Amino acid sequence: MEKENKWQQSTGEVEWQSPANIALVKYWGKYPVQLPMNPSLSFALKESVVRIRIAYEISKNKAFQLTGFQLNGEAHQAFAEKIAHYLISLSEAFPFIKTAQLQISSESTFPHSAGIASSAAAFSALALCICSMDEQINGRSSDTATFLRQASNLARLGSGSACRSVYPGMVIWGKCEDFGEASNTHAWPLPADQVHPSFHEIRDAILIADSQSKKVSSSAGHALMHKHPYRDQRKVQAHDNLARITEALRSGNWSLFGEIMENEALSLHSLMMSSNPGYILMHPNTLMMINKIRKFREETQVPAYFTLDAGPNIHLIYPEAEQKQVAPFISDELAPLCENKRWIADAAGPGPQQLK
Ligand code: PMV
Repeated sequence: MEKENKWQQSTGEVEWQSPANIALVKYWGKYPVQLPMNPSLSFALKESVVRIRIAYEISKNKAFQLTGFQLNGEAHQAFAEKIAHYLISLSEAFPFIKTAQLQISSESTFPHSAGIASSAAAFSALALCICSMDEQINGRSSDTATFLRQASNLARLGSGSACRSVYPGMVIWGKCEDFGEASNTHAWPLPADQVHPSFHEIRDAILIADSQSKKVSSSAGHALMHKHPYRDQRKVQAHDNLARITEALRSGNWSLFGEIMENEALSLHSLMMSSNPGYILMHPNTLMMINKIRKFREETQVPAYFTLDAGPNIHLIYPEAEQKQVAPFISDELAPLCENKRWIADAAGPGPQQLK
């Protein structure tokens, strides 16, 4: 039960930076409210982050209002409405929202047109801000684990995969057999001793095949899973892939890790193609890049593998130690297949940071 509000008037500011994440085992399909059909695993990125600052004023005699919203310095009506809707949906659990006047500014390090989903980073930063506001306004503080669990839970309600962005390292979301701590309502970071040192420094080259917004949203894609002919088998596959990829992480087996990662990416897109109606989000150059990556791996034995989000852009994942061999491959063979030769050098990062 939420405590009775004690404040009369309160003003303040909170600010968090949170990263996008890349899923290796994909969350695809959900039940109300934003509960996953299958468990997933991802890691947080380093460079692709969103910063959110909220200046707030709570006064008992005013109703909730988003008095201003700026995205990278400019007003953005559609996002403002989405955020206001999300915040109002949290107001039963956080009654201070009901009388809050909020000024929100959001900045992302990656352009909106880069084709990288910013919603995971944004909802994670927003959820962390709400949890910090709750602490400031109600004068309470919880231990870090409890704080992050609550933020992850709130982030999930904004965008499912956002719940994983709250943690650094390898992160699981969704109940599964091998890890009793994993949950459907919040993400759970795989303990450090479950991840072999060869996975501590991972690079992710995000190769922009096409930056146009997707023709079919992730929400529509999730919904199509309900009547999907392969739905039940997909759940079995995701559980199995999660068990095998966590074993690969434990033992330092990059080739098993990469094999499962690619299987997940191709399975995700196969599920889209075999939905009813079916659709294709890959671009012709996505396939060209996939073929080049597999050929490069065969010829050099360098453990560089691809994954894909629900979009056409490739994430090329490889150990930091292989950077010398991979860098010229990207610039000579993959960059020419990217839109305007555009790609982003990213890596596994430290997770969210509180800025204020
Ligand atoms: O969180 P959503 O609803 O944007 O869905 C994300 C789905 C994938 O990115 C395709 C997979 C994942 O696990 O992140």
